[in-house]
Amino acid sequence: MINNPITSARGMRDIFSPESNCYQELINKTQKILHQYGYQPLFLPLLEKTSLFARGVGEDTDIVGKEMYSFLDRNQESLTLRPEATAGVVRALIQNGMLQQVSRLYAFGEMFRYERPQKGRYRQFQQISVEAFGISDYFLDVELIQIAFDLFGQLNILDNVRLEINTIGLLSEREQFKKSLVNYLKKHENDLDKDSKNRLNSNPLRILDSKDEKTQQILVDAPVLVDYLSDKSIDFYQQFKKLLDLLQIKYYENHRLVRGLDYYCHSVFEWTTDQLGAQSTICAGGRYDGLVKTLGGVDTFAAGFAFGVDRIVLLAQQSLQKKQTKIMVVAGDLLSLEYLLVNLPILRKCLPDISFVLVTQIQSLKNQFKKADKAGADFVLLSGEKERNNQQFTIKNLSNGNQELFNLDQLINFLKKAGE
Ligand code: HAM
Repeated sequence: MINNPITSARGMRDIFSPESNCYQELINKTQKILHQYGYQPLFLPLLEKTSLFARGVGEDTDIVGKEMYSFLDRNQESLTLRPEATAGVVRALIQNGMLQQVSRLYAFGEMFRYERPQKGRYRQFQQISVEAFGISDYFLDVELIQIAFDLFGQLNILDNVRLEINTIGLLSEREQFKKSLVNYLKKHENDLDKDSKNRLNSNPLRILDSKDEKTQQILVDAPVLVDYLSDKSIDFYQQFKKLLDLLQIKYYENHRLVRGLDYYCHSVFEWTTDQLGAQSTICAGGRYDGLVKTLGGVDTFAAGFAFGVDRIVLLAQQSLQKKQTKIMVVAGDLLSLEYLLVNLPILRKCLPDISFVLVTQIQSLKNQFKKADKAGADFVLLSGEKERNNQQFTIKNLSNGNQELFNLDQLINFLKKAGE
């Protein structure tokens, strides 16, 4: 009896080449930029105690309320597959006493959220989370935007993205605003969409994010958060914008941008695109000065953001596809196979950007050329008895059929030129 094959869980993907190469390339490019700005990598556990996210991200957020993969382990402790990295980064710094020692770091890898899967939205997805600590001024907030600006420039997608910014001030200022907003919205409660009605008591600020047209109409005359901010908070925001102007980074102010996680204050931002349908945010973050204290550490300034790797790969596939020369290495007999095996380490060392794929079966040449072509190879590198006896190699260009006989040095020079 044949068993039915087992498939992956919903929203969890297998990513093959060439897409997987694009992921790799994006991570490499981002890491290079982050190192230029002095950010160091931090590797974190995928599993954390559930209470970390409940306390850090917020009980009333969608992430904690509806989207976490939480379970009791064999010791009856509630653990959660991380839905985001910021809370884990802060936990790690407090636990290891590193808050005073490191100020700029990044964490990358898989995150898990139980959302409805669609293009650009998965239940397992990747983020590169960029975090900085102990810096109180808006130069940091601007630096974070500059990092994303540099990456999007390198990926040639600046024309396809839009930077939206807002300030949400301090928690105390937001509390005042929340009261006025709820007072106003209560008068229109019956006309609000279902989600917004539910949020009136749990998380009223998120109502500002509602996409429902009727709710949007109601919000036109609602109180606005800026009117509740102190001069100091407004000044922080003005200086932040001034520096963006200085750097000629174009932005749009969106007074309804509040973000879906509870830990933010002052500047928040999102990079969006209209090229990916409903999943338009490719990167988002802001300042979160209160989080370290909330999680039990000493009061520490902090700000950061996360790149949505999967979405950026979708958007920038063209720039991320790196053409790599591929050579199938083929022998006419067993001794030639050994001859090639011995020479390949030298070739790989001298030509680190070329893939050499050794074909271990001895088959007719016609067959080998056909297979190499099918495998997308650019060249076939060949040795039979004649080449082996003369310490030579035949190289055949599969795109034009040209064939040449070289010694090792000549071959290396030829391939160096071909790879340029
Ligand atoms: P977030 O807005 O929840 O922020 O996620 C950041 C980015 O991750 C989103 O803009 C999006 O590109 C990507 N993303 C989120 N959910 C999914 C999904 N289901 N499938 C694919 N991509 C997704 C945070 O997570 C904060 N920790 C960011 C931050 C870091 N703030 C300060 N430091």
